[in-house]
Amino acid sequence: MRIAVVGSGYVGLVASACLAEIGHDVVCIDNDQQKVAALVRGETPIHEQFLPELLTRHRGSRLRFSGNLAEAGRGAHVVFIAVGTPPTENGDADLSYVESVSREVGQQLGDYTVIVEKSTVPVYTCEWVRRVISLNAPSPVDFDVASNPEFLREGTAVTDFLYPDRIVVGADNDRSASVLRTLYEPLTSGAYYTQPGAIKQPSGGADFPPPLIVTSTKSAELIKHASNAFLALKISFINAVANVCEAVGADVEQVCTGVGLDSRIGPRFLRPGIGYGGSCFPKDVLAFRAVARDCGYDFRLLEEVTRINDDQRQRFLRKVRNTLWTLKGKRLAVLGLAFKGGTDDIRESPALALVQALLREGCDVVAYDPAAADRAREELGGDIVRFAKGPYEAARGADALLILTDWEEFARLDLERLAGELKYPIVLDGRNMYRPEDMAAHGLTYVSVGRATITPLNRRAAMASSPATARD
Ligand code: UDX
Repeated sequence: MRIAVVGSGYVGLVASACLAEIGHDVVCIDNDQQKVAALVRGETPIHEQFLPELLTRHRGSRLRFSGNLAEAGRGAHVVFIAVGTPPTENGDADLSYVESVSREVGQQLGDYTVIVEKSTVPVYTCEWVRRVISLNAPSPVDFDVASNPEFLREGTAVTDFLYPDRIVVGADNDRSASVLRTLYEPLTSGAYYTQPGAIKQPSGGADFPPPLIVTSTKSAELIKHASNAFLALKISFINAVANVCEAVGADVEQVCTGVGLDSRIGPRFLRPGIGYGGSCFPKDVLAFRAVARDCGYDFRLLEEVTRINDDQRQRFLRKVRNTLWTLKGKRLAVLGLAFKGGTDDIRESPALALVQALLREGCDVVAYDPAAADRAREELGGDIVRFAKGPYEAARGADALLILTDWEEFARLDLERLAGELKYPIVLDGRNMYRPEDMAAHGLTYVSVGRATITPLNRRAAMASSPATARD
């Protein structure tokens, strides 16, 4: 099929590469000419596993890039809208990019085309897109608007696309549903998975071939918001449980294992920490609440989800204070700036927010992130942070080490070497990446989330312990 994808951000670029990978002819369109030029030159603008391979494999053959929607979109059977929907001040999604793309698409439609909304949008967006296209089409045109929400996670976006738990097609008639069924057929029939060179499924992934469900467009729009809000709720719930664990001296990791083994609950998205971040959860929880409010329902539960999430960062900051007493002039090593491991994305990153708070308190921060340093440097602007080339360099001479992003490499540190590099052997782990016993065995004081603080009984570490650390 000939496909146009409008928007070359995370969703648009990954969808373009993956749609080419499963056999379609794709043109990815963006009005940012510099971005298009970089993609044409062969650059990969985001850090995403398998994306460089797919771009190299299909660029110039089944995958093209263009800065001209009117020209490149002509003749497409399916046009995906994958542009940004940033939050406005009161939490609504700003749909102006979706509207302007719809207008442009309307102006150049020819034969029957399915316009597919892929950005995360509030319910009724498909209705609006339909209306805008009809109003802007020069003559009556044959088209349908469908919703096909994307559930990809940054860092595993390619395999999430190729091995999804489910494919949701929101279509209000059989004709458009059947176009999207055909489009995903290489996945739903299983044909893609037997193809030589197919990207392999990561371990622990979903069953495949994936199911495809057809719903109304409104239901599909709600599925996306409800899924993200529920996952955010799960994280805030376990963070609240972690806080109770700290108060009573229980171990949240043991609680998670016990709770997660209930197949009705499941173990995923039950990892406590410093709260969720990224370009989706914070914005989507707010947007879903705004959608509900506009429809006359006050979804207060979602306000609490956001409140717990914000509070989680503050609690971690208090832990740093309680462990180190005063912060002014303290030299802190920070591991991780991205909003989660496996990505260079720093949008709404709790790690970066904590670094900024520590800088405001007068700390001297030396940070290391395997991928997000450049973006963080840009975002921090005048705020002075030194960047190290590795975790041990960051730790050298520091009063304490903070783990703020769950990069895999941070779970495999040489603890003996780490303890040797630090001025004081103190680790504050906002992602619970270690067993407290292992830290203690290496003489490290270990403060984590939802678990008792471990303070080894040796002279240097004893200096670091304070009466408040066990509780907060
Ligand atoms: C999310 C959704 O998972 C995805 O389906 C949707 O399409 C886009 O939004 P993403 O933002 O890429 O994906 O990251 P995700 O892996 O969901 O993590 C979001 C945040 O939650 C991160 O800050 C992560 O560190 C945090 N998180 C996740 C936890 O704190 N605990 C968990 O158990 C899981």
